[in-house]
Order: sequence, then C-alpha cells, then structure tokens
Amino acid sequence: MMAAMKRVFSGIQPSGEIHIGNYLGAIKNWIALGERLGKEAFFSIVDYHAITQSYDPSSLKKRTFEAALANIAAGLDPEKVTLFVQSQVPEHTELAWVFTTQTPVGDLTRMTQYKDKARRQAFVGAGLLMYPVLQAADILLYKADTVPVGEDQLQHIELTREIARRFNARFGETFPEPQAYINKDAPRVPGIDGAAKMSKSVGNTIGTLEAPDSIWEKLRTAPTDPARVRRSDPGEPTRCLIWRYHTYFSDPDLVQNVVEPECRRAGIGCVECKRLLFDAMMRELEPIQTRADHLRRHPEVVMDALEDGRKRASEVAKPVMEEVREKVGLLRPGDAALSSR
Ligand code: TYM
Repeated sequence: MMAAMKRVFSGIQPSGEIHIGNYLGAIKNWIALGERLGKEAFFSIVDYHAITQSYDPSSLKKRTFEAALANIAAGLDPEKVTLFVQSQVPEHTELAWVFTTQTPVGDLTRMTQYKDKARRQAFVGAGLLMYPVLQAADILLYKADTVPVGEDQLQHIELTREIARRFNARFGETFPEPQAYINKDAPRVPGIDGAAKMSKSVGNTIGTLEAPDSIWEKLRTAPTDPARVRRSDPGEPTRCLIWRYHTYFSDPDLVQNVVEPECRRAGIGCVECKRLLFDAMMRELEPIQTRADHLRRHPEVVMDALEDGRKRASEVAKPVMEEVREKVGLLRPGDAALSSR
C-alpha cells in the first residue's frame, strides 16, 4: 500500500482544542506523510463538519484559525503540504450532495459515531446523519488513496470506499478506493479519565497547547493501576494509563529499564512516575507551544498559508467536480450536444 501512495487527504474538526489524541493518532502521521508527498498531502480544517453539532457561531472563525495554528505549531509545514479550510472550497459540499443521492439512509443510521452523537443531543440535525457523506466527499474530491486517521474513523473510511465503489459502478470508473492509514503505536489514545477514548466531546483531553501547570494537575490526579493502593504495593504497568502515556512520550529505554521494572517492584511511586512522564511530555510539547506563541504574534503567517492552501486545493477540486457533473448528466453552460438549434 505504501508504494501506491500518491495522494493523501485528512481532516480535523475545529470543535475545540487540539489534543494529544489528535496529535499522536493523526497529526504525527500527517507530518510524516507530508514530508514524503509534499503538496500531494491535503489537510483540511473541516468547519462544515464542526457545525453538525451545537456550536457558537461567534467563535467558529477563531477556532478554525486556532486549529490551523495548532497544526502548524505541531510541525505541519504549510510550505510543503496543502493546508486549507474546507468551507473555502465549495466543491466539498457540492460533491457531498451528489453522494447523498447515491447513499442508502440505512448505511448512515448504522454509523457508530452517528448513533453515539445522536444519543447525546436533543436536536439531531440531518447534517449529523450526512456527516460521513461529506467526509467521503472530502477524500474523493482529491481522489486520495490514503487517509491518515485514528482508529475511530475506520468505519467512515469503509463507507467512503463503498460510496466510491457505488459511484464507479453506476457512472463509470472515477474514484480510487482509499485506505485508512493508522498509527500503530497510538491508534486510540485513552483519555485522562482512564475510561474513554480521549475526545473533545467527553472532556477528558490534554491539549497540545495547554499550560504546563494545568497538564501537571491533570496527570497528578489521573488514575493509575487500581491494585497499587499504597506506595509499597507492586504495580502492573500494562494496567496503568500513565504507563500507556509513557509509551507515547518517553524514551523506550526509560520505559523498559526504569518505568516498567521499578513499577513492578514498587521501586518508584506513582507520583514519581508521573513526574518522569510530565518531563518527557513537556520536552515534546514545549517547542510546539513556543511555535504557537510565535504564530499568535504573526497571524498573517497562518492566514497566508491557508490562502495558498485554498488555491492549491481548488486547482485539484474544480476539474474533479466538473468530471462528476458531466458523469452524472448535469447540463453544463454551452454544452455542445444540446446547444445546436
Ligand atoms: P476529529 O476532528 O475528531 O479528529 C481528528 C483526527 O484525530 C484522530 N483522533 C484520535 N486518534 C487517536 N486517539 C484518539 N483518542 C483520537 N481522537 C481523535 C481522529 O481519528 C482523526 O483522524 N471525521 C473526522 C474529520 C474528517 C476527516 C475527513 C478525516 C472530516 N473529513 C476526511 C479524514 C478524512 C473527525 O471528526 O476527526
């Protein structure tokens, strides 16, 4: 699959702070694939997805800007990749409409994320149901073959493949069937509550741009191996959230030679272990936060990058959408066959 990789697409919702689940599960892979594919790597701040659930219109612009800023600060280089805002390329919603007409409602009502989100809110807009159709349009508009995401998106990518297959069967070969690309080391980062997946909607996140003392406070009070009640009780690292986080941030030598054996023989206490984790985490997050501070003082850098991204994305999106209009049989201005009177 790696060899066939020609074009990558992925997206992130501007619906809250960018957290370490996003960073480890998706953004790190975006950066790596961006290094390989340059402008053929498309990353979008998907604001039309963010408005499918209740949101505050007065802060959406700011959150969209902040999401772009957080990605650039994390290491996504907009001079190399194509970074843009979804709503600035209107072909996304246009293609989504065409796909909507070709997608059985039953395929959408069985989506796990739809069921979860619908259960949690009083008003369920049709946009929430159509959400994965728009996601399919995002990906297929660029004929992307690879989609770097966390494990929670697998069902949506499978649906995207079905949508591509159905479209191709009915209207002729047009779209590739894209593959998900998962970070094997962090497919599903657990939240700081130790119970659910880290998620903005659950509120169990650690933000990549969060203040160090706030991060420490979350780590300090986070659950560890429940069997370790007293300092002298031996622990089992693999049952511990803090150990899992160590595997993401700490030097593997430290994990293997200190964290694991010292936890098992009660050589270190949980607070000490959390201190080691905090130090490793901040070593990775501090440069990101410094870059973010710099970008906040130079917002034009972010806005210019998004404008470049919009132009590049449009260059690819426009001809694909034109191909789709033609294939589904829409009358085009000046169509030759029909304009002869
Ligand atoms: P979103 O905004 O929820 O998350 C952005 C990316 O972060 C990944 N992720 C995680 N990975 C590991 N562990 C976690 N706890 C965790 N939480 C989030 C997500 O899997 C995702 O890759 N529907 C998408 C946005 C989207 C999209 C697309 C993605 C819209 N169009 C087209 C790919 C292609 C979403 O809600 O991501």
